[in-house]
Amino acid sequence: MLLTLAAERKVLFVGGKGGVGKTSVASALALARARNGGRVLLVSTDPAHNLGHIWDAHVSDAATRVFTAGGHVDAVEIDPQATIERHFAAVTATMMKLLPERLHRSAKAHLELAKTAPGSHESAVLERIAELIDQGMDRYDLVLFDTAPSGHTLHLLSLPEKLTGWTESLLASRSRSDRFAAAARGLIGGEDPQADADSELRRTLIARRDRFARMNKTITDDTLTGFVVVTLAEKMPVAESLDIVRQLHGLGIDVASLVVNRRSPADAGAFLAERRKHEDTCLHELRDRLRTVPMTELPLLVRDMAGEDALEELAALLTAA
Ligand SMILES: Nc1ncnc2c1ncn2[C@@H]1O[C@H](COP(=O)(O)OP(=O)(O)OP(=O)(O)O)[C@@H](O)[C@H]1O
Ligand SMILES: [Mg+2]
Repeated sequence: MLLTLAAERKVLFVGGKGGVGKTSVASALALARARNGGRVLLVSTDPAHNLGHIWDAHVSDAATRVFTAGGHVDAVEIDPQATIERHFAAVTATMMKLLPERLHRSAKAHLELAKTAPGSHESAVLERIAELIDQGMDRYDLVLFDTAPSGHTLHLLSLPEKLTGWTESLLASRSRSDRFAAAARGLIGGEDPQADADSELRRTLIARRDRFARMNKTITDDTLTGFVVVTLAEKMPVAESLDIVRQLHGLGIDVASLVVNRRSPADAGAFLAERRKHEDTCLHELRDRLRTVPMTELPLLVRDMAGEDALEELAALLTAA
């Protein structure tokens, strides 16, 4: 079921409460999809990355091939600082063209300060997500996001609309000043060396606005994008999953699948059997509340998820489920 979903959609977000198995499930799903011939881009948005650990490879902000078989898996650990540096380098270059030389030093100092402004990391992560979705649409069959524990991710996904609005108002004020500048040029005559830099800044803003708008459209289109909620059959994770589902509905993002991880075996002693019974009660509530969302259960495994063998085991279970 989950593998079918991964074949049908272009973008999947894997999310849930801290420690429930998001990274393990996202990685196993990536591997299973690649074994099926898919080209997968696996992206960690969590500042506390561990894709590198689980795939036993060096993973960075640039896509790195971590698995080849049939298709392949390229992995990215989003580094917001790298995005911020790229963004500011571009803005600085444009600003320098716009401003007279005597102002360069103070403008640079100002931009340096802006790098650390509150929210700059968040919007950089979002910008990189939008960029990777854009690139992924062409070059990959599936872009799979391993996200940070719930609250953080949902907050991020609610940002593109706000950011689009922000760019829009900047553009509006720019086009006002553009008109003044054009009128002034008309009066005085001759070339304006600042005009090129100015329209460059405009183009950058428009490109950014368009990218966020495209992302918004993609992630709210349930033929393209789905959210996979990973949970455990325990009271707190179930409650939190219901909360996540509610927030996703609010954002217009399709809750495509539930994965209940680490299910205890019924046939491995009285203790675990008793535990399984308790889990059944919790699951019952979850099923009851979310009747239409397909659910996949994964067993508690003996070892934890690091290295290819463990991933293969979980991928095989996902494929069979
Ligand atoms: N089915 C399973 N059986 C046994 N151990 C598991 C299983 N799934 C995950 N684990 C282990 O549980 C731990 C947490 O898993 P994982 O890192 O995938 O969770 P996460 O939701 O990504 O955590 P975080 O919120 O910190 O990013 C890891 O040590 C992993 O190896
Ligand atoms: Mg994780």
